[in-house]
Amino acid sequence: ATRALSSRLYSSAAINRLTVIGGGQMGSGIAQVAATSKHDVTLVDVNQEALDRGKGYISKSLKRVAKKKFADDAKAQSEFVEQVMSRIRTTTNPAEGVAQADLVVEAIVENIKVKQDLFASLAKAAPEGSILASNTSSLPIKAIATPLTAEQKARFIGLHFFNPVPQMKLVEVVRTEEASQEAVDNAVAFVKAIGKSPAVCKDTPGFIVNRLLLPYMMESIRLLERDVASAKDIDTAMKLGAGYPMGPFELLDYVGLDTVKFIVDGWYTEGEGLKGDKQFVSSGKLNELVKNGHLGVKTGRGFYDYS
Ligand code: CAA
Ligand code: NAD
Repeated sequence: ATRALSSRLYSSAAINRLTVIGGGQMGSGIAQVAATSKHDVTLVDVNQEALDRGKGYISKSLKRVAKKKFADDAKAQSEFVEQVMSRIRTTTNPAEGVAQADLVVEAIVENIKVKQDLFASLAKAAPEGSILASNTSSLPIKAIATPLTAEQKARFIGLHFFNPVPQMKLVEVVRTEEASQEAVDNAVAFVKAIGKSPAVCKDTPGFIVNRLLLPYMMESIRLLERDVASAKDIDTAMKLGAGYPMGPFELLDYVGLDTVKFIVDGWYTEGEGLKGDKQFVSSGKLNELVKNGHLGVKTGRGFYDYS
């Protein structure tokens, strides 16, 4: 019955209208790429300042893209930025923001309770048949979906973008056991329509990328703690010896040390199949940096000093 219902709801459902909840680093990037690929975008955040900041990130990033795309043509550059920006409307009212959406992508704070509460109300306000998605880095998709009905769970998935969104080509499409094939297929089609490449995976901690990246980051910190080499030499080694665009410490500082600590602590204490896994035991060096507010690029200091 679920399958018959969902094929009716999704059969001709090209995704044109996207609503992004959360206009921070990730949400603004998602809004930007979708608007660039001619989707109608609604960006929702808690207050007007947050929305203004989000629009600021988008226009700054679009100007960089425009400079590359239309070198030596200032008029074409500003027209491009204006056109893309004109496809993004903003609101502080989530229910109104999702009322016309084909797809809702949530990119708010990484807190299970806050995400559950948001979806409990959004699922009622969004159109029947719309796809609901979370951009969570580390929380189980099925745990976020707890307050939803069976019908809503069939159209609830993970859509995990990477930072910086305009540059990173991958989007993980996370399929829970309850998600319908149609919802997954439509999400995959959307990812392709915004010029990204999808990788479909099951709902397990860290999905694909973070499940491999976090052990690598933690072992890099432990190499430093064991005084095997300096952060700079470890970074040079991985860039020149393994072809990574950033070394592990550059990437740690870029992602944010608070984020990394939040993910590994969560997995160590309650990650499905990861609880007590020594790869994720906390690191003295990481704890100390976070405690002192040295969170990486965003605070001007992490493993490196950016001041
Ligand atoms: N917006 C728009 N354009 C951008 C941009 C942005 N934010 N960042 C870069 N660009 C474009 C610009 O056109 C830029 O040219 P200008 O500098 O002339 O404006 C061009 O890209 C090249 O920029 P850079 O020289 O800065 O680019 P680079 O070649 O050094 O690559 C990078 C930058 C893409 C970030 C690269 O270093 C990289 O891939 N790093 C690894 C990032 C990564 O692993 N991200 C995943 C983190 S984990 C995650 O996100 C998951 C999670 O859940 C925590
Ligand atoms: P951020 O702090 O930059 O932005 C979060 C935004 O959400 C803020 O603008 C905040 O005002 C808004 N917000 C908070 N609660 C809200 C609510 N109830 N309703 C509407 N808006 C609300 O965070 P971010 O780095 O963009 O991360 C957002 C999500 O994306 C998190 O789940 C994170 O795990 C995930 N993620 C982050 C990265 C990364 O590298 N930063 C990568 C992939 C996924």
